[in-house]
Amino acid sequence: MSEHGKISADTPDWSRERCREFWDPGRRLLRSIRCYQVARKRHSPWRWLSKYWVLQHRFWSVVTGADIPLNCEIGGGLLLIHPNGVVIFPGSIIGPNCLAFQQVTIGTGGPKPGAPVVGGNVTIGAGAKILGGVTIGDHARIGANAVVLQDVPRGATAVGVPATIVAGGKHYELAGDLSLSLYSET
Ligand SMILES: CC(C)(COP(=O)(O)OP(=O)(O)OC[C@H]1O[C@@H](n2cnc3c(N)ncnc32)[C@H](O)[C@@H]1OP(=O)(O)O)[C@@H](O)C(=O)NCCC(=O)NCCS
Repeated sequence: MSEHGKISADTPDWSRERCREFWDPGRRLLRSIRCYQVARKRHSPWRWLSKYWVLQHRFWSVVTGADIPLNCEIGGGLLLIHPNGVVIFPGSIIGPNCLAFQQVTIGTGGPKPGAPVVGGNVTIGAGAKILGGVTIGDHARIGANAVVLQDVPRGATAVGVPATIVAGGKHYELAGDLSLSLYSET
């Protein structure tokens, strides 16, 4: 158990991804990615099934309008409650047990070159954009419609465009570093 509640930032909770019914688009899409990646592993006996998972992935991608590539690096336990419009750049890294709402974009752009690295148990609100080589700490929360262009420390809440940290009713500017002490109060 973590200090931020029961959801771990390190150990994937695979039950979050288990399909509850046939029409479960977010989980079906993730399942096609997981099964494809297992099938493509070297010496996998399921290699011959990979084309089937590619077709499944295409079908659920059309249904959801999401663009989550087959080769992306996503920790187990990702929740896509409303998967529509979720876009993840293939070079991004996402930790275990994250939650992303609709229209989330995790990709390149912004002042920092590279792709985002998102920690474990990070909640990303609807319409939020995380752009460039930023690092989002474990248990962080990204507000709806935020545009994150700088690192967000562990457990912090970032809101707005460009995103700033909110803590104790105050707003802090992100200083491009994971230490809260480097934030300047605005
Ligand atoms: C970011 C979030 C988690 C913060 O929740 P919280 O810790 O309870 O924070 P508060 O509501 O106390 O807000 C703290 C401050 O941030 C501001 N704020 C909160 N969310 C914001 C957002 N998305 N954009 C801009 N500002 C926001 C509040 O106005 C408040 O500002 P103030 O201190 O100047 O009054 C939440 O507001 C959020 O955006 N959740 C995403 C929900 C979502 O996407 N739902 C989709 C359902 S389908």
